[in-house]
Amino acid sequence: MGFAAELRERTRSDHRAAQHLGYFDALLAGRLDRAGYAALSEQLFFVYQTLEEAADVMRTDPVAGPFVVDELHRLPALAADLEFLHGPDWAMRITPGPATREYQARLREIAFTWPAGYVAHHYTRYLGDLSGGQIMLRALRRSFGFAEDGVRFFLFPGIEARAFKERYRTRLDEVPWDEVERQRFLDEVSWAYRLNTAMLAELGRSVLPRAAA
Ligand code: HEM
Repeated sequence: MGFAAELRERTRSDHRAAQHLGYFDALLAGRLDRAGYAALSEQLFFVYQTLEEAADVMRTDPVAGPFVVDELHRLPALAADLEFLHGPDWAMRITPGPATREYQARLREIAFTWPAGYVAHHYTRYLGDLSGGQIMLRALRRSFGFAEDGVRFFLFPGIEARAFKERYRTRLDEVPWDEVERQRFLDEVSWAYRLNTAMLAELGRSVLPRAAA
């Protein structure tokens, strides 16, 4: 089994936990209002701010560098979505929740200095955005009638998801890490999933009573 396949196997249950959250159930069923959806863009803005700051440090690293692809970067798209959803003063209206701050703290702790740690977080977010994100995009378009404005986060102009993911998996299969480093990487991906799950669970707690109403 290649390393990318091993990674997917090892994190299958982490993915299941991240996927089956009340917040996504509500999003996919069209039960979120606009503010409930905007709350996701708000928290993701803070995550990508830190992750993409780390990209600038990692782009010259021999192993992590090739993973840094500017077309993937989500911060400009999130800023555009938030401006569309909240208006020009959007930046003054958003704050990271406690779980999001914890996620940012973990990124600060490892993603600027440990290449495999950066790749672990890169994989968990961007491959997810290119996969489940596309299912969410369809649901959001159905719910709100957004074409591009409001859902730019889910659009990757210049990237063909299927081919990109295949190349990404090949790159993972070829990383020159030894067995110890591979295990540390796998543990960090699980951690990244847990940080996402905690952030999304927190989002659900703040948004779902309104969605159910
Ligand atoms: C409603 C929520 C979600 C749905 C419906 C969903 C759906 C999917 C699907 C169908 C795939 C397989 C795509 C393929 O094989 O090409 C996938 C892969 C993936 N998802 Fe999700 N997902 C969700 C949430 C998440 C979350 C919250 C994360 C983490 C932040 C995540 C991270 C990933 C990753 C990293 C992969 C790539 C797995 C691999 O091939 O190595 N997903 N997702």
